[in-house]
Amino acid sequence: MPLRVRHHVNPFHLRLLDIAPERLAAPVGRDAELQVELGCADAQFLFQLARRDPLGSYVGVEIRKALVEDVNHRANVEGLPHLRALFAHINVDLPRLFAGHRIRRFFINFPDPWFKRAHQNRRIVNPELAAQLVSLLVPGGEVFFQSDVWELALPAMEVFENTRGLANTAGEWSFLKYNPYPAVSLREERVTERQLPVWRILYRRVA
Ligand SMILES: C[S@@+](CC[C@H](N)C(=O)[O-])C[C@H]1O[C@@H](n2cnc3c(N)ncnc32)[C@H](O)[C@@H]1O
Repeated sequence: MPLRVRHHVNPFHLRLLDIAPERLAAPVGRDAELQVELGCADAQFLFQLARRDPLGSYVGVEIRKALVEDVNHRANVEGLPHLRALFAHINVDLPRLFAGHRIRRFFINFPDPWFKRAHQNRRIVNPELAAQLVSLLVPGGEVFFQSDVWELALPAMEVFENTRGLANTAGEWSFLKYNPYPAVSLREERVTERQLPVWRILYRRVA
């Protein structure tokens, strides 16, 4: 039976501000450095990475609980123990969630756009989040962001360009032409089918 979940949730709903996740305790995979997708939904992107390199460590963070349970179920059924989804609020829980872990990559694939002006504060990329990502990344670690929404991509780029400790791999204020990873998220697949432009940026943690 197809999974039925709400399309959007308000990340400021009090119930969601108080998820209080455990710290990610046990190691996820054999690779000590995690690859994390923020807002993973069905985690198609992480499944594709994990199938190519089952020894890696893959974590999706998602605020819709039904999706989290479904991802973990499918990862077990498929025999991918190194892929896990966590029910958490990206803008509240990240430092506690990953305390003591080393992150090699953060992927932010097609975050919710929240077009209305009154809802723009629900967008996940902001200076606080960017600083947290830097503090969790290993030296040389990466932050990859992609979106088909220009009004979202440009402000995200502005945040990352102004974050100490991040360097744009394509040169300052430059976008990438391609997704450099061997994985395509569901939203990316849909957008590509419709031949819409995609704005992609890749930053590396520098000293
Ligand atoms: C547009 S979907 C993109 C899903 C996937 N990355 C893709 O590209 O197909 C954005 C996802 O981010 C999740 N999300 C939004 N705000 C969040 C938050 N504050 N914490 C955790 N997940 C969040 C949504 O529930 C949704 O599943």
